[in-house]
Amino acid sequence: MNAEDIAGIREEALREAAEITDIAALEAFRIKYAGRKGVLQDLMQNLKTADPADRPVLGKVINEVKRDLLALLDERKKAFESAAQAQVAAFDITLPGQWPRPGSRHPISQIIERVVDIFHSLGFTVAEGPDIETVYHNFDALNTPPHHPSRDPQDTFYLDNGDLLRCHTSPVQVRYMEAHEPPVRIVVPGRCYRRDTPDATHSANFHQIEGLYVDRKVSLADLKGDLSHFARELMGPDVKVRFRPHFFPFTEPSVEVDFTCHVCGGKGCRVCKQSGWIEIAGAGMVDPNVFKAVGYDRHQVVGYAFGMGIERIAMILYGIHDIRHLYENDVRFLQQF
Ligand code: DAH
Repeated sequence: MNAEDIAGIREEALREAAEITDIAALEAFRIKYAGRKGVLQDLMQNLKTADPADRPVLGKVINEVKRDLLALLDERKKAFESAAQAQVAAFDITLPGQWPRPGSRHPISQIIERVVDIFHSLGFTVAEGPDIETVYHNFDALNTPPHHPSRDPQDTFYLDNGDLLRCHTSPVQVRYMEAHEPPVRIVVPGRCYRRDTPDATHSANFHQIEGLYVDRKVSLADLKGDLSHFARELMGPDVKVRFRPHFFPFTEPSVEVDFTCHVCGGKGCRVCKQSGWIEIAGAGMVDPNVFKAVGYDRHQVVGYAFGMGIERIAMILYGIHDIRHLYENDVRFLQQF
């Protein structure tokens, strides 16, 4: 052993020390060099084998290396400790916690799910159709006369190619019957589009649910019974249902369906404009001309159909006074549902 060996070990140790990045590695380093069975201790043992004349000098050099390494260890340890303390100080455990906000279904989607669930229990399945429709499916096949006002471009959005954005979910009746033999029992949720100026009760883009029940024996009494059941499931056992004569091109006879106002229970209030009733749906017995258009035998089948506005139901169930809240997607509003 000579002084050069010791200098080499010292250099090696310094190089290793420079690469230490945490306190555990620092401790491993201490044990390796300064521990009871460490490198420096080994050197001291080996001193016995050195030339006796050199021993005092070599011993002194080893002690210097040891002193330097211990000083270095001490310094690095302090540095690690104060860094850890700074981190603890930056993390204020008294601050209120933050938790991720769970998402929730949009109120429109929730209403669609509820309505679909109720009709599901009556044996209806869900069907869907395209938002972009042909004039044929949206109007002609639904027995809508050529000069009916709803065909006017002031009311309906037409595309350059002559197609349109459907103004109701009724064309899906036609599409479904074209593709399926009777009996038919479907509900159809979906978006609809009309050239309405947006205000508290109008939106150019809104949602409907269409219903269609076709079989050999279906009557207006079935329509009334099923919609009354639906009303009670949706609004509670006390709601009453009223049918008023109306006109739709695709049904004969046609009715409008009112529920007693959920706010006043039918006594009359601001929400129902003192009438005690809220209009919920249009409905009726499917016009034979619609069956003719889809290739059904009008002498073999009968059916009822209805269409209702989802926003309308959401607004009365949740007490929302402005339809626009449903589209602004303000999280503070949406969180309440
Ligand atoms: N399509 C009608 C509307 O948009 C609603 C409607 C009325 C649908 C009567 C029907 C029906 O299926 O039978 O206002």
